[in-house]
Amino acid sequence: MNPIAFLLLGSLLAIPTLSQTYHLQGNTSVLPSGWALDSVLTCVADCVPDDEPIASEFLFGPSFIDPVGLTIESCVAFCDAQGTRLAGLKGTECRCSNVFNPSSCFESDGGECNTVGFDFPCPGNPVESCGLADGTPPLFNLYKNSISQFNCSDTIWSGGAALTAGKWRFSNFYNDSINRALPHNAVNLHVPLPRGNLTTAACTTACGNAGWLLAGVEFADECYCGNATQNNAQPISTNCAGLPQNNFFPVPPVTLKRCKGNANEFCGGPNIVSIYTLPGSGLVPMVDFNPGFDGFCDGRDCLGNT
Ligand SMILES: *[C@@H]1O[C@H](CO)[C@@H](O)[C@H](O)[C@H]1NC(C)=O
Ligand SMILES: *[C@@H]1O[C@H](CO)[C@@H](O)[C@H](O)[C@H]1NC(C)=O
Ligand SMILES: *[C@@H]1O[C@H](CO)[C@@H](O)[C@H](O)[C@H]1NC(C)=O
Ligand SMILES: *[C@@H]1O[C@H](CO)[C@@H](O)[C@H](O)[C@H]1NC(C)=O
Ligand SMILES: *[C@@H]1O[C@H](CO)[C@@H](O)[C@H](O)[C@H]1NC(C)=O
Repeated sequence: MNPIAFLLLGSLLAIPTLSQTYHLQGNTSVLPSGWALDSVLTCVADCVPDDEPIASEFLFGPSFIDPVGLTIESCVAFCDAQGTRLAGLKGTECRCSNVFNPSSCFESDGGECNTVGFDFPCPGNPVESCGLADGTPPLFNLYKNSISQFNCSDTIWSGGAALTAGKWRFSNFYNDSINRALPHNAVNLHVPLPRGNLTTAACTTACGNAGWLLAGVEFADECYCGNATQNNAQPISTNCAGLPQNNFFPVPPVTLKRCKGNANEFCGGPNIVSIYTLPGSGLVPMVDFNPGFDGFCDGRDCLGNT
């Protein structure tokens, strides 16, 4: 969202009047390793109404509803088991994701999730806060895992790669070199992908048609395929490949290169390959494989569009 809309949303939120507080933290001694309240985004207001399709959801990965037993601990344990790094409690619902929905909007205000009478006690432990489901806006009590596959300190996808390409999902940036992270250069496929006009979709389509589960775009105009990474390629966690850190006003990344065939996408960078996956490769995608997100980025600028 743009900065103006962000500020306006803040001014519309109601001011809590009662001062007694819930425990935002839950019983931290039983949370899985790495999980804690986010240091900046504690209580997050979601401006998308509940009846919108899942592709509009603010946290848009695996979820469950438990009107009887939901606690901070049960939600975090579930999201941890899904391999995601964000867990949000909203009333009786627990939602997981790796990034915030780039087409959604939000603001953070810790005070609103720990004031009795303003938010919702967790059904499984009423001294804990479970955000608020039916408010305007709804509120998430938000937890983050700082040692997941995605170590970026920014919870928002500030750009760097399209999140989806049809059924394909962005997984992560990997380091690359002459000893390639993925074994097959798409210019050598049975149906070769010529250089000069690369997009994420062109690469995933070429690799998918050749029977591969992984596709990686690199240095604006290169595409590689395979079923597994090789040569000890590692996810690049530092700053998400050098993206500037700014929770609310992302700016374009500096180390990545715009795709030769689409200046609104980034296609890896020097020795950085952006790897996309189909289900079954074993790589964890940033966006869930839920078909509601197939082609999620088609027709919109997913870069910095938060
Ligand atoms: C937190 O959980 C641990 C382990 O189950 C338990 O021993 C401890 O009493 C709990 N603390 C609180 C404050 O509930
Ligand atoms: C994320 O950070 C943790 C703790 O610093 C580290 O153990 C882990 O290897 C990192 N993950 C990646 C993918 O770099
Ligand atoms: C990635 O980095 C690791 C650790 O520095 C190194 O061992 C590996 O060879 C690199 N892989 C590629 C594909 O560049
Ligand atoms: C580049 O690819 C797009 C489709 O992805 C196509 O519409 C366009 O004609 C191509 N341009 C060139 C110069 O090949
Ligand atoms: C890659 O994986 C797909 C899906 O499992 C499989 O059909 C294909 O044969 C694999 N390719 C190779 C070379 O193993």
